Amino acid sequence: MLVTLKEILSIAETKKIAVGSFNTPNLASLRAIIGAAEALCQPVILMHAQVHEEMGLCTMEEVAPIMLAAAKKTSVPVCVHLDHGTDVEYIRRGLTLGFTGVMFDGSALPTEENFEKTKEVVRMAAETGASVEAEIGSMGSREGGNAADMEHPESIYTDPVMAKQFVEETGIDALACAFGTVHGLYVKEPKLDFDRLSEIDALVSVPLVMHGGSGVSEEDYRRVIARGIAKINYYTYMAKAGAEAINGKTFTQYHDIVRAATEAMQQNVAAAIRVFSGL
Ligand code: 13P
Repeated sequence: MLVTLKEILSIAETKKIAVGSFNTPNLASLRAIIGAAEALCQPVILMHAQVHEEMGLCTMEEVAPIMLAAAKKTSVPVCVHLDHGTDVEYIRRGLTLGFTGVMFDGSALPTEENFEKTKEVVRMAAETGASVEAEIGSMGSREGGNAADMEHPESIYTDPVMAKQFVEETGIDALACAFGTVHGLYVKEPKLDFDRLSEIDALVSVPLVMHGGSGVSEEDYRRVIARGIAKINYYTYMAKAGAEAINGKTFTQYHDIVRAATEAMQQNVAAAIRVFSGL
């Protein structure tokens, strides 16, 4: 069942869970995610990241119709979301394709420009009924990156007072905030700033989003969900599980590689959804 980001996050808030939000740069990951969500009867968010297109994995035009068809066919609530859209025209194309959620990532822009462009995306999304996530503060390395470059991440964590102003002025439906997670493989255990997250949650009225969600401990997932995180973006460790299932093995048929990796990714996604849903 295809739903908007706002609708799926309201399910999360009612059930006091976080909805798992997973990237789909290929058919194997999409099938793994849908398979896990259906097996556990839980809502899920499918995401196409602009950066995966830049890495040559698949284009939005190729993958969006497949994501939408999968969402419409299944009985669990599914949002089809555009992840880290960094330019407004790209997001406009996504809205035309039918994404029911879009993230505008203006975190690399000067603050004033991030406010203005986020407002523009909110106006555009209102025309199709899609919901908008945006970010203030920064998570560092993008998907597929390596978290090693985050020596002093505190300098770019989300400021709670700024977050309140950002949400109120832009009218976004969900806020991505930076409080210690980063995209990519963790080279040391992430240390999350829970007090900052609680402060943001106390000041901000919309659901909060944690990026760089894979590779975090189960205990920390539970702690962030209790502090207002309703959407957890998760990709790297799912992709790692797929790679580990085939590393060192010999295959003669490519489809057997895909099958083994899909199965491993589905198990990894299911384990994450179980924790996010308190199962
Ligand atoms: P990871 O790949 O680090 O799990 O982060 C995913 C993400 O935040 C997508 O926006």
